[in-house]
This record gives sequence, C-alpha cells and structure tokens, in this order.
Amino acid sequence: MRLLVTGGAGFIGSTLVDRLLADGHQVAVVDDLSSGDRRNLAGAGRAPGFELHEMDVRAPALAGVTAAFRPEVVCHLAAQISVRASVADPVADARINVEGTVNVLEAARRAGARKVVFASSVAVYGRPAAIPVPDGAATDPRSPYAASKLTGETYLSAFRALHGLSYTTLVLSNVYGPRQSPDGEAGVVSIFTDALLRGEPTVVYGDGSQTRDYVFVDDVVDGFARACGTGGDGRRFNLGTGRQTTDRELHSLVAAAAGAPDEPRFAATRPGDLPAMAVDPAPALDGLGWRPRTDLATGLKLTVEWARAR
Ligand SMILES: NC(=O)c1ccc[n+]([C@@H]2O[C@H](COP(=O)([O-])OP(=O)(O)OC[C@H]3O[C@@H](n4cnc5c(N)ncnc54)[C@H](O)[C@@H]3O)[C@@H](O)[C@H]2O)c1
Repeated sequence: MRLLVTGGAGFIGSTLVDRLLADGHQVAVVDDLSSGDRRNLAGAGRAPGFELHEMDVRAPALAGVTAAFRPEVVCHLAAQISVRASVADPVADARINVEGTVNVLEAARRAGARKVVFASSVAVYGRPAAIPVPDGAATDPRSPYAASKLTGETYLSAFRALHGLSYTTLVLSNVYGPRQSPDGEAGVVSIFTDALLRGEPTVVYGDGSQTRDYVFVDDVVDGFARACGTGGDGRRFNLGTGRQTTDRELHSLVAAAAGAPDEPRFAATRPGDLPAMAVDPAPALDGLGWRPRTDLATGLKLTVEWARAR
C-alpha cells in the first residue's frame, strides 16, 4: 500500500513510518521539522521508495505532492501539540491544527485517497464524567488545542459525507516511548527519564495523586497500522490502556528503570491540570482488533534504554 504520513518526523509519526516500512508499504512523509527531527527517519531514509517532503501541511503545494504520490491512506499526525501553547496563541494553534487538517483532507480527496487516519487527543473529553472514558462519551473541549482537534474530527465527518472519503479517528491518551522529546509538556515520562539519567532534580505537581493513562508508542502505532485497513470507517476509537497511574507511581517506575533515586520534589498543582484521566480501549478491540500489549514497566525499560543510548 502507498501511505502518506504527516508529522512523520515526529515521535509517534516516525515510529509509525518505521512500522509501515517494515510491513512492506511505500511511505511518503510530509513534515516541516518544526518539532520533528530528521534523525528519527535515519532508518526510513534507507528504505526503497521512501520520500521525505519538508513542507508545512498548510502549504498550497501539498496538493501537488499528494497527487504525485497517490497515497491510498493518509495518516495525519502533524500538529501543534501543546495545550499551553494553544492557550497562549489560539490563532496559531487553529492555523496549524484546523487549516492544516482541512488542507490535508482536501489534498487527500483530490489525490483519490481511500482513507484518512487522524490523531486526536483525550483532551477532547475535557473533564470526563466517567473514567475510564467509555465509547461515545460526550466531548467537552476546554482548551484551544482540544477545540482544534475536535474541529479536525468534524471536518473528517464532513469530507466523508461530501466526498465518501473514509476516516478513522484515534484518540490518543498519554503516549510514551523512544524518540519522545523531553521539551514538551506532554512527555512526562521523557521529562522524568531525561532528568533522572542526568542526575537532575524532578518535580511532581500537587501531591502526586493525579493520574494518567500511559500507552506505549509501539502499541499506538499498531492502532494506526490497523486503522489503515477497512475497519473502523467513520469511527472514533480510544487508544489507551484503561489503567490509571499516579504521578508518584510513575516517578517510582521511571526511577527504578533508570537506576536513580526515587526522590521527586513536590510543587503546587498547575492551574487547569486534570486530576484523573484514562480511556476505555475495549471498542478498539471490537472495531480494529487492537489492544495495548506493552505493560508500563516493560515500556519504561525500553524508553530508558533508548534515552541512555542516545
Ligand atoms: N504524544 C502524545 O501523548 C499525544 C497524545 C494525544 C495526541 N497526540 C497527537 O499525536 C500527533 C503526534 O504527536 P507527537 O507526540 O508525535 O508530537 P511531535 O511533535 O513529535 O510530532 C508532530 C510532528 O508534526 C510536525 N509538524 C508540526 N506542525 C507542522 C506543520 N504545520 N506542517 C508540517 N508538519 C508539522 C512536527 O515537526 C513533528 O514532526 C499529534 O497530532 C498530537 O496532537 C499525541
């Protein structure tokens, strides 16, 4: 199959590219390298037929690149990924995440693509009424980032109705693993890993009881690979484990994997931080045959090994 991956130089996107190439597909990447890294594609670059287009997803030239490559499926992961940046500059967030998504959809359907697989976020659920968040739960975006991701989902639905362009939305919980940047806010695993390996102090916000649902990048990428088939058309699936891990537990697990002291500092809770989050992955098992396979200790060991070797 021929697949176009936007954001393919990033943490999740480049891992997806490696998986798709290993499965024998032909892959083109569109990425402006704003947060992605060419080094993530070092292996992919040696694969026959691989193409990297250093390009903004909003560029008018995207239509020509997509038409020339003729992808059957477009995996759209390029995005402004920071909630805090979206609050500071909601216009910039919308330009990338809304205008960029519409440009990708328009390029995909003009090029005759069959399907778009879209990376959305648990942020679209806001403060959910039930945890783990079940299938079909109400959305309640509480940040410009959540609003722009949900708007992207709405456009997928409109393009399917209007043009018959198939889609699957994958709602990602807290993804962690090799290649995640410790610079952003989302990657608490990589932030702890980086600091603990350097012997630098680590900070836990609040009393450490805040929870998140950590899902390993290889498992998430397996969800994308499955969604590139015909299953799950017009559906949204949660890719998480359904399990909550507290910040304090996570610190202990990363410290154990890194062989570092488990002694975080504690600081005041940050305004807007959710007290708890986890999503129910059961519908993805029905719809895509997907389930998370990597337990947290194993995933953290692989993440620390990668960070140590870097
Ligand atoms: N990491 C997580 O826990 C998580 C959780 C929920 C959703 N997501 C979503 O998954 C996707 C991938 O996230 P990631 O964690 O790999 O982040 P990342 O920053 O590593 O990857 C994003 C990629 O998109 C590229 N990009 C950004 N703006 C672009 C633009 N205008 N044009 C072209 N390329 C552009 C960046 O250079 C980068 O390579 C994003 O859509 C993100 O919103 C991630």
